[in-house]
Amino acid sequence: MGLLRNIYYSLSPSMRFVARRLYYLPIDTYDSITGRRKEMIPPRGMIFIGAGDFEKQGLHLMELLKKHAGLRPDSRVLDVGCGIGRLAVALTTYLDRQGSYEGFDIVKKGIDWCEKKISSKYPNFHFLHIDLKNDLYNLKTENQARHFKFPYENNSFDCIVLTSVFTHMMPEDILNYLEQISSVLKTDGKCLATFFLLNKEVKEKMAAKQTFFDFKHAYEGYSLIDKRVKEANIALEEELLYTFLEEKGLKADAIHYGAWSANADALDFQDVVILSKK
Ligand SMILES: C[S@@+](CC[C@H](N)C(=O)[O-])C[C@H]1O[C@@H](n2cnc3c(N)ncnc32)[C@H](O)[C@@H]1O
Repeated sequence: MGLLRNIYYSLSPSMRFVARRLYYLPIDTYDSITGRRKEMIPPRGMIFIGAGDFEKQGLHLMELLKKHAGLRPDSRVLDVGCGIGRLAVALTTYLDRQGSYEGFDIVKKGIDWCEKKISSKYPNFHFLHIDLKNDLYNLKTENQARHFKFPYENNSFDCIVLTSVFTHMMPEDILNYLEQISSVLKTDGKCLATFFLLNKEVKEKMAAKQTFFDFKHAYEGYSLIDKRVKEANIALEEELLYTFLEEKGLKADAIHYGAWSANADALDFQDVVILSKK
């Protein structure tokens, strides 16, 4: 693991936010003086959800949903762990007035930004802050994701998406979220969720140092990169995912293994799993 990442993980979530703001302050100031940044795109120092081109990545995720999860302009979409609106911004260019978007996240700064910049212009886009504990993102509460009930009606979404969210959740929390997804997904709806999945082939590649990450700390059903900040990156045993899906009335229609484990035909960096109701 790189030195910078090591230092970053040793900070608390709020210190990480301050460090990021300071690091990007010069370029964010330049962007705002010159008007280079688009209104709905957050300053770089506020983008706490990972690296890469925010706008392009959002459009890429939207294309995945169109191709693999049946997204249409009139879809009702749920974005679990919506961050700071990376997908939502892209969807403002695609969903029509019959369509709608609900997003929730445990980081209040992201939700505040989305309400201010997106909901104010697109009234069919709604965001909710849910205060749950995560050792990468939020230590200000003891509320656990494993006990959280999604605040939406049953059978109400055509398309549910979780990009790079289950890779930050412990197995018990994932199990509960799969139950919630099974409740709020329409019978003919689809869910696109990304994971780091562990199976025999991936473990062989990992042992041969061919994977981007080394999940070297193995536990029952999952493995970690870093023991100090467990939820920074979590890989789930693929067999355990199948057990969870079975238990919660879901099935995997397709699994597209990601570039992280050296797959040339990957759709994304993480493994993309398409779920539907059994
Ligand atoms: C890597 S970011 C991805 C954000 C967004 N899905 C995207 O692709 O831009 C992971 C997100 O998951 C959120 N998160 C972590 N645990 C969560 C939970 N139990 N429920 C909802 N969101 C959660 C974090 O706050 C963070 O915004």
